Amino acid sequence: MPERKRLLGIVASHRAGGNSEALVRVALGAAADAGAETDIVYLSDLRVGFCRGCLRCVYKGQGCVQDDDVPWLFETVAAYDGLILAAPTYLLGAAAQVKALIDRAVADLVRRPGPRSKPTGTLCVAGLPGWDHFVRPVTNQLALLLGGRLVGSLTAYAPGPGEVLLDEGVLQRARDIGLAVLEDRLLPPPEGACPVCHLKRPPEALRTPCPFCGHDPAGPEGSHRFTGESLARFVEEWMYPSRERFLARRQEVEAARAAIEEFRPRRVRPG
Ligand SMILES: Cc1cc2nc3c(=O)[nH]c(=O)nc-3n(C[C@H](O)[C@H](O)[C@H](O)COP(=O)(O)O)c2cc1C
Repeated sequence: MPERKRLLGIVASHRAGGNSEALVRVALGAAADAGAETDIVYLSDLRVGFCRGCLRCVYKGQGCVQDDDVPWLFETVAAYDGLILAAPTYLLGAAAQVKALIDRAVADLVRRPGPRSKPTGTLCVAGLPGWDHFVRPVTNQLALLLGGRLVGSLTAYAPGPGEVLLDEGVLQRARDIGLAVLEDRLLPPPEGACPVCHLKRPPEALRTPCPFCGHDPAGPEGSHRFTGESLARFVEEWMYPSRERFLARRQEVEAARAAIEEFRPRRVRPG
């Protein structure tokens, strides 16, 4: 008997019984009905720290210094055949938990460079059309940084928790995405959006490079900032050399720092 494919769902919303969770369950349910084995991760169960910017993960290559669940998440995702990622919109973009993981992906890029090949679908939820411009590209960016290759994405509009379950059209699209991930089948990109990151753009702008993912319709097919190759170049050509560049100017920086030492504003904290 052929081995069953394993799909993982990630719920980025911390809202219990929310729309992101509902859509992940619908997408995974469709894949399970078609024979997949499915698991789900709630980011609200995980300890996720903010990147501290020390870059030890890059220069030492030993992972992040923080003792939390982010390395576990990246390793866990890598063990699955496909990924479904769902995120809510907060103030035009993806909720902060998504960006926190994007920043922490640097440690994983250094340890595990390579192709982004895992079929992945993203399910975004918003409350108000026109107030959701950045949720899809940013959620898709996380999907790619988690090792994904985007096969489909959607945005649903449903403000109340679970309200999305009343929209049969969206549920069908979530099922389609679940099946596309299982079958590793590319769905058509949304109209009026960048075909790679799905950033909404005016029709005339679609002929020019995407300001978010860098996809250039006139350039080589499939080239953009978040390919394995491009991410490896970013690490090799910018991140690694930035250390030597900084060390070469360290004394200059120390002198400049001494000049601002004269004025130190009073530090205020809660408590
Ligand atoms: C703090 C906050 C900010 C929000 N900002 C937006 C917004 O800018 N645009 C929008 O369309 N919806 C916004 N929403 C609505 C949510 O995206 C919507 O309720 C969504 O269903 C939440 O998904 P969830 O149920 O999975 O948590 C906001 C909700 C919250 C709690």
